[in-house]
Amino acid sequence: MIGVFDSGLGGLSVLAALIDALPRADFSYYADTAHVPYGSKSEEQIQDRVLAIGEHLVADGCKLLVVACNTATAAAVQALRAAHPGIPVVGVEPGIKPAAQDTRSGRIAVLATEATARSARLRHLIRDHAGRADVLIEPCPGWATHVEMLQLDDPALAVDVRARIEPLLEQGADRIVLGCTHYSFLAPLLTEVIGTRAQLVDVADAVARQTRRLAGDLAHGTGRLQLHASAHPERLHAALPRLNLGRLAARLGQAQ
Ligand code: DGL
Repeated sequence: MIGVFDSGLGGLSVLAALIDALPRADFSYYADTAHVPYGSKSEEQIQDRVLAIGEHLVADGCKLLVVACNTATAAAVQALRAAHPGIPVVGVEPGIKPAAQDTRSGRIAVLATEATARSARLRHLIRDHAGRADVLIEPCPGWATHVEMLQLDDPALAVDVRARIEPLLEQGADRIVLGCTHYSFLAPLLTEVIGTRAQLVDVADAVARQTRRLAGDLAHGTGRLQLHASAHPERLHAALPRLNLGRLAARLGQAQ
């Protein structure tokens, strides 16, 4: 079984890509909804949560872990790998490299939680992979919570999205990196603001390909999917149609 986790609903965007890439694998998804959002927490608090969830998933029989959260990866992927040396761990990091390779203007922007935006890991990612591209970092407090509450059409969110994106476009950014897995669900709203002025960069498919490379026999399961949450598990199931993930709901029905 492959364990996938996030602070809440965001990692479902990665889970959907994983299921497309590994349709016969068994997945257990854990949403840490009792502690969402991670983006406003300290590195130490996030590490504690990630290590506790890792323990739980491994004890439950997971042989590969996907940290479907940029914030958790930035704060704790090293600690998680150290805690489980025998288990491959795939993290999610903002797509700085593909954005920097594709930019025409030479300027890219990354949208992230506050914790990711100030992390040393993001600084290092930019140092190692941005090449000559100039990188604008835009923390987006509250966006993940809007997704979590399924307030995708909230006019206040639309105003905030525009207020944060327009200045990035005015400064010439032509690639906008989704540096938080929750933001994938804001793609329609972001695209409405951006139009053809820039392209969104999401790494969910790349993460899925990397997981498939490491999956070995785990690719050949029974196609089972379990969803767990540290609070309000029923909301996780109820959110699937709203997030256009009805096909995951269908899979839950079939598998159990
Ligand atoms: N989905 C998470 C990420 O990719 C974190 C959102 C949050 O809990 O603040 O960064």
